[in-house]
Amino acid sequence: MNVAYPATRLRRTRASPWSRALHRETLLTPADLIWPLFVTSGHGVEEPIASLPGVSRWSVEGIAARAREAAALGIPCIALFPNTPRELRSEDGAEALNPDNLMCAAIRAVRDACGDTIGILTDVALDPYTSHGQDGLVDGGGYVGNDATVEVLVGQALNQAAAGADIIAPSDMMDGRIGAIRSALEAGGHHNVQIMSYAAKYASAFYGPFRDAVGSAGLLKGDKRTYQMDSANAEEALREVAMDIAEGTDSVMVKPGLPYLDIARRVKERFDVPVFAYQVSGEYAMIEAAAAAGVGDRDALVLETLLAFKRAGCSGVLTYHAADAARLLGG
Ligand code: PBG
Repeated sequence: MNVAYPATRLRRTRASPWSRALHRETLLTPADLIWPLFVTSGHGVEEPIASLPGVSRWSVEGIAARAREAAALGIPCIALFPNTPRELRSEDGAEALNPDNLMCAAIRAVRDACGDTIGILTDVALDPYTSHGQDGLVDGGGYVGNDATVEVLVGQALNQAAAGADIIAPSDMMDGRIGAIRSALEAGGHHNVQIMSYAAKYASAFYGPFRDAVGSAGLLKGDKRTYQMDSANAEEALREVAMDIAEGTDSVMVKPGLPYLDIARRVKERFDVPVFAYQVSGEYAMIEAAAAAGVGDRDALVLETLLAFKRAGCSGVLTYHAADAARLLGG
C-alpha cells in the first residue's frame, strides 16, 4: 500500500469540523472529573482563596450546595479538604480522629443533600490537623515516623468511612498504609468503601496554593522530601504503584498532573488499574495567571489540559476547574 504523499494527506480528515469530530480519538466528559472542595468552619461562610482565584473555602452547607451543583453538572465525585481551625491543630493531629470534625460534618451534609447521586472522596493525611503542617507524626529528631503515622491514618480513614465517605484517598505517602487501611475497612464492615491511593505523589513546588487553602502553609517547617517522591524518579513510581495494588488499592493517582504525564502513561501501560491524575493547585493557578496576563484563552487552556490526561490514559482528573469545565462541556 502506498502511504506516501500525496496518496496520503493527513490533513484530509482535518479539513472540516464534522470530520474532525468523527476522527477524534479521545473524549472528555464531565464524568471524567473529580472536584476538590475546601471546607471551613462557621455558617454561611465563603472565603475566597487569594492564591487560587475563583476558588473559595465554604462552610458545610456551602459544600453541600457545591455538591448538588456538581451532581447537576454530571460530575460524579467531589474531594473534600478541611481548613481545620488553628486551635484544633496539634502535634499529633488528633482532630483527624474526631467523629464530629469538619471533614465528617461535610461528608454528612453532602450525603443529606445528594444521597448517592455523587461520590465523596476524602483525603487521608494529617497535614490539615497538625500544628507543624507535616502529613504524619514527627519524632524527636524531626523525622516523620512511618509506622506510628500509619496507625493514626487507619483511625482517620475509619472515621471518614463511618461518616459516609465513598473513596478513601491516602495522600500521605507512608509505606504500608494502603494494606493497613484496607484491612481495617474490611474488619469494620466497610467492604464497598474504595481506596484511591496517591501512589505516586511527588515532593512538588506546585502545592503552594493548596497549603494556603488548608491553612498549613504558615505552619510547615522544612519540606516533605522524606516521604513524597523525588521529581527525578519514574521507576520508583512504578514500584509505589505495584505495592499499592498488592496492598489492595482500587485505583491509583499520579500527582501533580501535567508535569508528570509521563508517569501516568507508564503506570497505565504497565498495570491494569484505573489511573487518576491530580491537576494540582499550582497548575490551576498557572492557567489562571496565564489567562489573566492575556497570554492564553482560559477556557481553551482548561479543556486542552484536561483532555491531555484522558489522552495519556487516565480514567479521570481531580481539578479545581471541574465545574467550569463541566459547564464548558455542556454538562
Ligand atoms: C496533603 C495534600 C496536598 C495536596 C493534596 N493533599 C499537599 C501536600 O502534600 O503538601 C496538594 C493538592 C494541590 O496542590 O492541589 N497531604
